[in-house]
Amino acid sequence: VSQLLREIEAIIGSEGPIGIDRYMALALGHPVHGYYTTRDPLGAAGDFTTAPEISQMFGELLGLWAVAVWDAMGRPSPCRLVELGPGRGTLMADALRAAGRVPEFEAACSVHLVETSPALRARQRAALEGRDVSWHADVEEVPEGPMILLANEFLDALPIRQFVRTEAGWHERLVGLGSEGGLAFGLAPHPAAGLDGAAGRPGDIIETCPAAQALVAGLARRLVAAGGAALFIDYGPATDGPGDSLQAVRRHGFADPLAEPGQADLTAHVRFGALARVAARSGATAHGPIGQGAFLEALGIRARAAALSRGRDEATQAALASALARLTGPEAMGELFKAFAIAAPKLGPLPGLPAGDAEAHRG
Ligand SMILES: C[S@@+](CC[C@H](N)C(=O)[O-])C[C@H]1O[C@@H](n2cnc3c(N)ncnc32)[C@H](O)[C@@H]1O
Repeated sequence: VSQLLREIEAIIGSEGPIGIDRYMALALGHPVHGYYTTRDPLGAAGDFTTAPEISQMFGELLGLWAVAVWDAMGRPSPCRLVELGPGRGTLMADALRAAGRVPEFEAACSVHLVETSPALRARQRAALEGRDVSWHADVEEVPEGPMILLANEFLDALPIRQFVRTEAGWHERLVGLGSEGGLAFGLAPHPAAGLDGAAGRPGDIIETCPAAQALVAGLARRLVAAGGAALFIDYGPATDGPGDSLQAVRRHGFADPLAEPGQADLTAHVRFGALARVAARSGATAHGPIGQGAFLEALGIRARAAALSRGRDEATQAALASALARLTGPEAMGELFKAFAIAAPKLGPLPGLPAGDAEAHRG
């Protein structure tokens, strides 16, 4: 039995069942035994593979996106180029290499990585060797001023809460002790406050992500005041609806989310509509969501793949074609993954994203 499972059992034993948000925060971020604290989970030999690890094209296009946004902002200097949850640092390394074509951008932008995992900070340091980069535990620590922020598969790791509809109302789904040992899901005995008005049928599950909402609210206020944009790429439905999306992934396959906390990645779908409403309430504009495939196509991924293929051997060309299909194909990452941005309203349309429509998200 893992140390972390014992620790969580002890917490529940003394305090009673805990919210899924607290469980996720412990499983992923426990300071000693947390999933991200102890390992680099990325890549073929790890648990899952992300877009920047599939191809250099992903980070390169995001780097050029950042340059175009900086240009539309009026080329502010200084400007903060920020990444949340940078994994192995691959996305930022590819983005900076591509953005290096515009030396004024490089000169104006300081690079800030927001990362809690010591194991992944070490990987990032190696990937970005020779670059002037600062690390932060929280985005609030990034120095003030205009900002362009990138985040790939970051929001899906933030802790969620779930509520299950019963005849009596919405009850929070909790993690408690199972009757045969280990952990088990259960329901809070009393309906949750504040959800009485939400429609639903018995058995429906709704999810909220208070951490993502607080993050987006803070970013929206900052972007409105100081200028800039934040781009999130993550997986989630185009329109919010009920459903349990909590999942555990280990060695490229699904696992039981409660079986071995700290040994499997835990994620939930991102509810973009809820985040767009939060951004609009702070006066920021929401752009998208749009499928990752359509977004990358609009940024020119096909032309980039063709340029990288030119004059190369057959195996390299086949690898590039396969990476292109994985990143953009509707049956691969092209539709489930979405690009979504929030920005200062004066910025206007953003590259690759449908024009912002704050009114559609008010409520
Ligand atoms: C699924 S990985 C994605 C990595 C990278 N963006 C990529 O696409 O390969 C999630 C990243 O977010 C980091 N992370 C998770 N929770 C975090 C938090 N609360 N604050 C900062 N970083 C966090 C993880 O350590 C990891 O770097």
